[in-house]
Amino acid sequence: MRNSLFRNPKPWLMLFTGVLFAFFLVGCGEDSPAAYGAHTTLTTSGPVADSERFLYYIILIIATVIFVIVETVLIVSIIRFRSKPGMPNPRQNHGNLRVEVLWTVIPALILFVILGVTIQGLFQVSTVPAGKSITVEAVGHQWWWEFYYPEYNITTADSLHAPVNTVVNVKLYSNNVIHSFWIPALTGKTDDIPGHNNTKWFEANQTGVYYGECAEFCGAQHAHMAFNAVIDTQDNFNTWVTTQQQAAVVPAPGSLEAQGAKIFGNACTICHGIVGHGVPGSDTKYIKGYDDPSVACADPNKACLVGPNLTHFAQRNLIAGGVLIHNRDKCLNPDNLSDCNLAKWLANPQGIKPGNDMNVNLSPSDIKALVAYLESLN
Ligand code: CUA
Repeated sequence: MRNSLFRNPKPWLMLFTGVLFAFFLVGCGEDSPAAYGAHTTLTTSGPVADSERFLYYIILIIATVIFVIVETVLIVSIIRFRSKPGMPNPRQNHGNLRVEVLWTVIPALILFVILGVTIQGLFQVSTVPAGKSITVEAVGHQWWWEFYYPEYNITTADSLHAPVNTVVNVKLYSNNVIHSFWIPALTGKTDDIPGHNNTKWFEANQTGVYYGECAEFCGAQHAHMAFNAVIDTQDNFNTWVTTQQQAAVVPAPGSLEAQGAKIFGNACTICHGIVGHGVPGSDTKYIKGYDDPSVACADPNKACLVGPNLTHFAQRNLIAGGVLIHNRDKCLNPDNLSDCNLAKWLANPQGIKPGNDMNVNLSPSDIKALVAYLESLN
C-alpha cells in the first residue's frame, strides 16, 4: 500500500535512522593529528574567526528555533489530523489575511536581523586593527603552500609561522589555478586567484598549531593541499626568523650527509632550492630559494621554484604539501627508516600523492643518504 512506511513507521527504521545521524555527527568531531593542529570553526582564537563564529551561532539559533516550530506544527498536524477510514472531507479554506501577513512580515524581520549582523561582521573583518603586524605572501602551488616573508626575506612551505597577538597581513598569489586560503580556527576562506592578488588579515590570540587547508578545488590533489599556522610567542618567532635567515649547514666531507647533498645536487635541484649550500664541483643554480615567489613566478626570467625551498627542512612539521607528518624522530637512524615518512615519500611520491610534480627514481642507498642530508638541515 502506498505510503505505508510513513503511516506505520517501523521502530527498527527509526532506530537505524537515528544511529545513522549519530554517526554523521560523530564525523564532525574528528580530531586532526596534533602536527596539523585544531581543525574547527567553533573553537576560535582571534578576532576574524570570532566574528565569523558569532554570525554562525546567530543564524544557527534562529534557524533551530524556526525548525523546531515548523516541525512541531507539522508533526502534530500529521498525527492529529491524519485521515481515517470513513472520515468526511475537511472544511476547505481560501485565504486568511492575518496568517498571510504574519508569515510574510516575520520572515522579513528575521532576514533583516541576519542582514544587520552580517553587515556588522563584514565591517569587523574588513577593519585591520592598529598595532604590531607582519606580512606573509601565501603562494598557492599545485599542491602545496609556499610562505614568503618580505620583511625578513625568507621562504618556507607547509607551515605559516607568526607571533601571537600580531596582525598577519596575508597577500595571496597563484600563478597556476585558483586556490583558497583557509585556517578554520583563525580566519575564513579567501581565494588565491592568478592575476588578481587578494589580501586578507588575521590574528591569533593563543599560541599553538592551527590547521589550514586549500578550500577551492584545484586539481587531483586538492584534498592533499594542507598546511598549518604555527603561532608562537614573539621571542620564539624571532628565534625562528633568525634561524631561517641562516644559510644551510654544509655537511662534513665524506659523511653520509655529504653523499646526500651530492645526490640532491643531481636529482632534486631542478625543482628545489637550498640557500647557501654549494656542493664542490657543481654549479650554483640551486643556491636559491629566498626570491619573492610572487615576483619570481610571474617573471619567466627568474627562477620560480617548482618545489619547496628546503633550506631548513629539518624544522618543518609537515612535508609533501601536508599529506605527511614530518616524524623526524623516525628518520634519524639511517639503518632503520621503515617508519620515516620522508623516506616513504622519497621512495614513492607518486604512490602517496598521484599527479604531483615529483618524479624521482631513487635507490634505497640514495634515499638513506638524502634523508640523512635533509634531516641535517636545521
Ligand atoms: Cu589548492 Cu585546492
